[in-house]
Amino acid sequence: MAEAKTAELMEKIVSLCKRRGFIFQSSEIYGGLNGFWDYGPLGAELKRNIKESWWRSMTQMRDDVVGLEATIIMHPKIWEASGHTSTFSDLMVDCLVTRKRFRADQIEAQSGIAYFYQGASDSGSGKESKDTFSVLLPPGKPPESARKVAKQFYQMRGIENATLLGERSEAAQNTTRYNPENGALLTEPRPFNLMLKTYVGPVESEDNKSYLRPETAQAIFAQFKNVLEVSRQKVPFGICQIGKAFRNEINPRNFTFRSREFEQMELEFFIRPDEAIEAIYGSVAKPAGPGHPGEPQPNWGWQLWHQYWVEERFRYYESIGLPRQSLVEYWQKSDELAHYARATVDILYKFPFSKRDEKGELMGEELEGVAARSDFDLSQHQRFSGKSMTVFDEELKPAWSKLSDAKKAELSQSYFEARQRYLSKTGEPAEKADKQARVDAEALGKGYYIPHVIEPSAGVDRLALALICNAYREDQAPDEKGNMETRVVMKFHPRIAPVKVAVFPLLKNKPELVKKALEVRDLLRPEMSVFYDEAGAIGRRYRRQDEAGTPFGVTIDFETLGEKGPELKDTATLRYRDSMKQERVKISELLQILIKQIRFG
Ligand code: GAP
Repeated sequence: MAEAKTAELMEKIVSLCKRRGFIFQSSEIYGGLNGFWDYGPLGAELKRNIKESWWRSMTQMRDDVVGLEATIIMHPKIWEASGHTSTFSDLMVDCLVTRKRFRADQIEAQSGIAYFYQGASDSGSGKESKDTFSVLLPPGKPPESARKVAKQFYQMRGIENATLLGERSEAAQNTTRYNPENGALLTEPRPFNLMLKTYVGPVESEDNKSYLRPETAQAIFAQFKNVLEVSRQKVPFGICQIGKAFRNEINPRNFTFRSREFEQMELEFFIRPDEAIEAIYGSVAKPAGPGHPGEPQPNWGWQLWHQYWVEERFRYYESIGLPRQSLVEYWQKSDELAHYARATVDILYKFPFSKRDEKGELMGEELEGVAARSDFDLSQHQRFSGKSMTVFDEELKPAWSKLSDAKKAELSQSYFEARQRYLSKTGEPAEKADKQARVDAEALGKGYYIPHVIEPSAGVDRLALALICNAYREDQAPDEKGNMETRVVMKFHPRIAPVKVAVFPLLKNKPELVKKALEVRDLLRPEMSVFYDEAGAIGRRYRRQDEAGTPFGVTIDFETLGEKGPELKDTATLRYRDSMKQERVKISELLQILIKQIRFG
């Protein structure tokens, strides 16, 4: 029941997105392109506001993060170093009859009766196939259904009038080997690399092969040294980037949630290794409990920095209108973690299409991952490029010289072991890994190390969809004649609403009203996005803006012109989208009132 309701809600949201110009299918006039989406006038403004609010909170409101804007296509070695060339793949399976492709982990386990066939022959043509095949039927379905699917399989192998050979059946429990849509056997799972390839230059050769970036993060690592040199930053500090990413997803689905082209907002926040903190401050501060740990402190180790960024990200989502209870903090289990990650928290939003737990509660789908990635990424680029990614820490060298020999030995050993673990995992022979880890541990004592990283990585499109789902409401409001009707209203936080204010002259055939309304539009326009609308009854115009999610409406009426008394001259009606309350305000104060409302909600 709950699922039917949420499916219906999702349908309404998708339909509103098209009707009001938030999101269109890409290339729609040619039948669309699966996994690609365009943003219409309102959607484009919404996305721009999301990116601006993220950028502002990440860079302009902080001293310790700077921005980067890198290219989409980069040197192919980058993807070897990052591991994307060899491991960025999903397991996929194909239906042996329809050839439809699925992600292996998205096939729901099914039970029923499996029908097996040894082959098929056609007495007319004399052809025969010895290929084995099977079909899973739900309990109670007649075997004829399995035979129909099996005949299709053999027809595809040239056996036109197939007589099935060696049929037998047996019960099957919780199997993921069959296509849930027609019961046909699937191929064995095999890896499918998700990177989209292209060729740089006029010759389509292996040497010219390159990739559209599958994440924005790698450019940050590759440019780490350049940014460090020019920005006068020291560890701990961050580099962030917003930009397009591309993944050839096997099954794009849930509207824009899993697309093939999307945008990411990523921060790589570089920190000292814990051994350096301990050498400088005597100990490493660890989390004292859940919640925001407060202003960053120099003695924080990676765990506190990780907790800090998780909590900062929750604060950000709340600041643009996603309530805390609509979000889920999911700690990846040890078997889900990437091999280099020490901890990853996924921030999930309870989308209407999310799976439900046994209590019927929405479990949420990933908006963002906040990963503690150790020094893996920079170490990889150091190995692959041959360029040093170490930094010199001015405080570390003198602090190290004051340590006791026992402490030096302890911290060196801990650092050596971490480096050795990393190098061994990359496949370096034990002896070489040992030698290099020793060199790295000695360098630590001289003030050099490769920074560790905390990475909050979010998707713009997923956030736009979450904000749209969160904003969608239906309530009751009076129509022109005072009868109650259903109102669709998008309750966006004013900070990210596509249009901030609509300006209406009460009547369009009264030049004085129109002139004044245009003056108000021009007064507000330099500071915020304004929509001017003079067409139709005022109630209809309000409804249109409610659906677009415009939080404020300003109506210029006869009071504004002073026709209802001089005390009301140069005032206007300010209407609030959510409460539908109206108040009279002085036009001279309007701009300040709106700026305050947008900033503080
Ligand atoms: N650098 C780390 C990284 O890329 P990820 O979890 O693969 O991590 C980060 O991606 C975020 O990018 C996700 O949390 C999600 O918001 C967004 N994202 C990833 N794949 C996506 C897709 N196919 N469609 C839309 N957004 C996607």
